[in-house]
Amino acid sequence: MKLLTISLLAGMASASNGTGYTQESEVPYYGLSPPVYPSPEGSGNSNSRWARAYEQAKHLSAQLTLEEKANLTRGYTGACVGNSGAVPRLGIPSLCFADAPLGVRGQEFVSSFPAQIHVAATWDRQLMYQYGKALGDEYHDKGVHVALGPVAGPLGRMARGGRNWEGLSNDPYLAGEGLGEIVAGTQDAGVIATVKHFLLNEQEWRRMPNELGESISANADDRTIHELYLFPFMRGIKEGAGAAMCGYNRVNNSYACQNSKLMNGLLKTELGFEGFVVSDWQGQHSGVASANAGLDIVMPDGGFWGNNLTQAVNNGSVTTTRVTDMVTRILASWYYMGQNDAFPKKAMYSNAQKHEPVNVQGDHSSLIREIGTAGTVLVKNVNNALPLQKPNFVCVYGYDATLSQSPWQNPSRFGGGYEVNFGWNTFNGTMIMGGGSGSGAPPYVISPFQAIQERVVKDKGILRWDFASENPSPAYVNADVALVFINAYASESFDRISLADTFSDNLVNNVAANYSNTIVVVHSAGIRTAENWIDHPNVTAVLYAGLPGQESGNSLVDILWGDESPSGKLPYTIARNQSDYGALLNSTVSFDAFPQDNFTEGLFIDYRYFDKNEIEPLFEFGFGLSYTTFDYGNLTSSLALNASTAPLPDASVPIVQGGHPSLWDTIATVTCTITNNGSVAASEVTQLYIGIPGDEFEVPVRQLRGFERVPLQPGDTSTVTFDLTRRDLSVWDHIVQKWRLQPGTYNVTVSATTSQKFELLDFVMLWWR
Ligand code: BGC
Repeated sequence: MKLLTISLLAGMASASNGTGYTQESEVPYYGLSPPVYPSPEGSGNSNSRWARAYEQAKHLSAQLTLEEKANLTRGYTGACVGNSGAVPRLGIPSLCFADAPLGVRGQEFVSSFPAQIHVAATWDRQLMYQYGKALGDEYHDKGVHVALGPVAGPLGRMARGGRNWEGLSNDPYLAGEGLGEIVAGTQDAGVIATVKHFLLNEQEWRRMPNELGESISANADDRTIHELYLFPFMRGIKEGAGAAMCGYNRVNNSYACQNSKLMNGLLKTELGFEGFVVSDWQGQHSGVASANAGLDIVMPDGGFWGNNLTQAVNNGSVTTTRVTDMVTRILASWYYMGQNDAFPKKAMYSNAQKHEPVNVQGDHSSLIREIGTAGTVLVKNVNNALPLQKPNFVCVYGYDATLSQSPWQNPSRFGGGYEVNFGWNTFNGTMIMGGGSGSGAPPYVISPFQAIQERVVKDKGILRWDFASENPSPAYVNADVALVFINAYASESFDRISLADTFSDNLVNNVAANYSNTIVVVHSAGIRTAENWIDHPNVTAVLYAGLPGQESGNSLVDILWGDESPSGKLPYTIARNQSDYGALLNSTVSFDAFPQDNFTEGLFIDYRYFDKNEIEPLFEFGFGLSYTTFDYGNLTSSLALNASTAPLPDASVPIVQGGHPSLWDTIATVTCTITNNGSVAASEVTQLYIGIPGDEFEVPVRQLRGFERVPLQPGDTSTVTFDLTRRDLSVWDHIVQKWRLQPGTYNVTVSATTSQKFELLDFVMLWWR
């Protein structure tokens, strides 16, 4: 009703803008995002490490002139994608900011790790941490101060979102656990991690202002913002993230990089953020407003700041305190990471520059291979088609099995990047990453065909292949197995137009028509539907092999030949039909001057949406098969001893980085046992879902709140303990602006993968008073 009134009002104020579309007045959109001023000053009160960093930062910033301060809060062209201003007289260097979340982009002698969505599919916190640490080590040794990752926005609201693969999962808990571990790993390597893009940056269509008008406005209510989109960021910030990047979009009609509710309110007040906020590249749209709303540094150039910021202070539009706080926050993060002390020399070059090699790959290839394997998800396996039993004759089909013919048109991006592949449905060659600023430059790529060939040669078998045809022929009657490789591409700067494509679907069906043992491998930058061939009786096994990075073929062969049992689980829901995603399939396409994207589904995205609407998915969120079977038992729950179950956190306790400290207190514990009752060693990912008491139309019937990847030898049993924190069990009370425990019964579900299908195993009741 309210929106209708607004558009009527807006219509009255309309005028043509020359594009043929109506130019509306901006005025009705003012004030829809609550104002939060003034910008909180970073204090360093979170812990002794921040306190020391602030002490040093304050000492240094006290010696800076206003011009020097303005110089530290802006970017310059240089060797890195972002280069801050320096103050040489005080030993403050130009900080080097670099992409990408899966490896240092555009450099030689660096690794390309699996994309974050692939890491999420491992559901393994240790691997997530090791990933962050190894990435961090590479950044560090290249002299990069600020890594522009990890990503929790987009979360993945839209099934066809172009950047979903850069983040972990559209479940906020899985995304948050991953974000936290990657931040911890990256920063343990001495590099500032940047959690991005803050916030509600859920689509690529009109993410930036253009000739049609302003950026898309993502409009969400306070509770949805907290329980879905802010939730993963909380965890990354709790781990001490030194930087956050505000997004391109508008949130409730205020640009994210000048949105005081987001930066002053959520980040710097509620989450007690001590670090600095950097704008996305060209994401700043005002000078005074962005400064007062909490932006601390603009990239990649001076934007609306530079000399203008100095002027704004001199004429009183921005306080000296605010500019000093910007600089103090930047310097505090720099000190927090110890970068003032013997940080490596910057070794970032264009490929046209001759230089001494700075090789930072270390022995990361084995970790990359391991994560590649652990994030591969087996979703169909009829009559134990997998693992392969030393096949004599293997056929390999499809464009995705081998290397692209010329993937280096852009030397800094494998596959060419968006300028080459804009709008593509598939990538013509094996796909190990998506496109855009999140892509990288691998030192080499092991294609599936290369690794398969090595294996077949070792076993003295034979191979036939066709990487080009849609209907490969002839059909080899003596073949034991046909492996078909397809992919689904996505990139920054465009949203996907489909979750499947005709050529690949035809290819699978054509091969399946000829081979009774057809195994499909899908590399995908997000969801890829399979409705056109999944039920084909000759499709005996299907692997979702994600975006595995440079060791792709090796990671896959480990699973195909059974050296490792698959344990990966889907970090999203795969629907039977694309239309099952309903309004959450496509991004909002609008030609209005002030395009609006209303998040009316609230909390109900992905499996929460499927649960609520009772839509049976093809493969559930969290689903994935194994080569063994597991037995679950002895489910118990208990309240933690001495845990406060007061509905609200104690208001007298100060907020520290990560939010109110008691949000992270364990309130209840759930345990269960898992036994590997099959005949091969395997890991099981056990998942805990919670049903918070409340109206089923307001509270999802289940939400992920725990997981553990447990390695088990045949016959072995392990006990898993899930700690449930106050945050895990609370809902956001928008009236009192606090997380609140709910009175009543919490349903706890521990889920298991069985030999064929994910199923809900059991439930217990958990009470609190
Ligand atoms: C992207 C950011 C990236 C930046 C620098 C922007 O277009 O949205 O994620 O870090 O470019 O490359």
